[in-house]
Amino acid sequence: MTTENKPNSKAMLKRAHQNMPMGVADSYRYWGEENTVFLSSMKGCSITDCDGQTFVDFRIAYGPIILGYRDQRIDNAVIDAITNIGAISGFSTSLDSDVVELIKSMCPNIEKMRFANSGTEAVIGAVRTARGYTKRKKIVVVEGGFHGLHDEVMWKSDVDNWNTDAEQDPQIIPFGGGIPESTRDNQVSIPLNDFAALDAVFAEHGDDIAAILIEPIMGNCGSIASTQEYMQKLRDVSDANNSLLILDEVKTGFRVAKGGAQELYGIYADLTTYAKAMGNGYPVAAFGGSAKVMDTISFATGGVTHGGTYTANMIALSAAKATLTVLKDTDALATINRVGKDIQALLSRVFSKFNIEHCFAGPDSMFGVHLGSTVPQNYRDWKQTNSELYTAFAMNLIANGVMLEPDSREPWFICEAHQTVDFVWLEKIAEQSMAAALKS
Ligand SMILES: Cc1ncc(COP(=O)(O)O)c(C=O)c1O
Repeated sequence: MTTENKPNSKAMLKRAHQNMPMGVADSYRYWGEENTVFLSSMKGCSITDCDGQTFVDFRIAYGPIILGYRDQRIDNAVIDAITNIGAISGFSTSLDSDVVELIKSMCPNIEKMRFANSGTEAVIGAVRTARGYTKRKKIVVVEGGFHGLHDEVMWKSDVDNWNTDAEQDPQIIPFGGGIPESTRDNQVSIPLNDFAALDAVFAEHGDDIAAILIEPIMGNCGSIASTQEYMQKLRDVSDANNSLLILDEVKTGFRVAKGGAQELYGIYADLTTYAKAMGNGYPVAAFGGSAKVMDTISFATGGVTHGGTYTANMIALSAAKATLTVLKDTDALATINRVGKDIQALLSRVFSKFNIEHCFAGPDSMFGVHLGSTVPQNYRDWKQTNSELYTAFAMNLIANGVMLEPDSREPWFICEAHQTVDFVWLEKIAEQSMAAALKS
């Protein structure tokens, strides 16, 4: 993309290299010298780059845009709050309880909450609360899950370099330098939907497991989902061992259903983290659970400390209040599900035309596309899919004006504004993109 026909992008990357490592403000925005994207505007479900190319966007900022970019219902609420209340004060306002009460009306397991500025911060708060409550250290996580950029959860199963023929588990490696080895000690990693592995971990470490921390639908691993039985098993094992179940709904919360993944499964966590869809792109996050667990946050001896200068600022909370009100009171999520279903059907027609085995994982509002015959049950299964062909297909889609992450581990995210997409055009572009991918 950032080739000779993208002179502005090229110039911006050159300038940015003088100012930021890798020329970007977030390492994952660097897509190489040729492909790094610089935007000039966003609206609805579209983004326009600084060279004037417009894309229909299915990446939507890694998921937060649930209604559409620059949705007036949300932006006006934020403008009103900063004009008439203020942005930040370091004190409480009625917005705090307004937002919690809205969430409680959608998520029946939540009794008390605290706010945060990002998913990372919400997870840190939930894990610290779980440790304070249980007085234990270890956290069980699932391979392929992602819980933000804080040292303790920046260890991953190296499925990329895993030899599927060898009878060994994938190596657990840090995301990169600067992550102390000691942060690995309190984490145990298991494959999703593997009952025996879960039992084995609890048999070995049960007395010291503070919590299981899991994305019920892995929004960072192709929307590969926990089975109903596995979710029940997680609940039962946590209860039997006096450990807590933390469901990380940073991506699924207020997206896959009004009450998030927990509403779909009918199985509830002790602590839940929320972010992304909760503010339609404004930086707001939260964690919460039962009053008994959340009241561990206190100034009593041994109580958990939580806070932060920007916590529950009025920009974040006015956006959350407006977004959650729309999601609660309108059929926005039903529209999103319908559009997501239609797009999967469209993609399925295209793949079938080329006799490509394919399947979809996860819910219609954030579906994973897997080029293989069976829906992966965990990250190791994902390795069996044709992710190289997917990436070639995705790169051609991007060149033709359809933006998405060119990695099948990132789902397609749908927002309400996607109902305006020209599906005939999209199908034609998808067909051309797959034809070109198969030739390359
Ligand atoms: C499930 C999950 N948890 C936590 C995070 C971290 O959120 P943030 O990037 O807002 O810090 C992410 C980010 O993608 C996520 O998907």
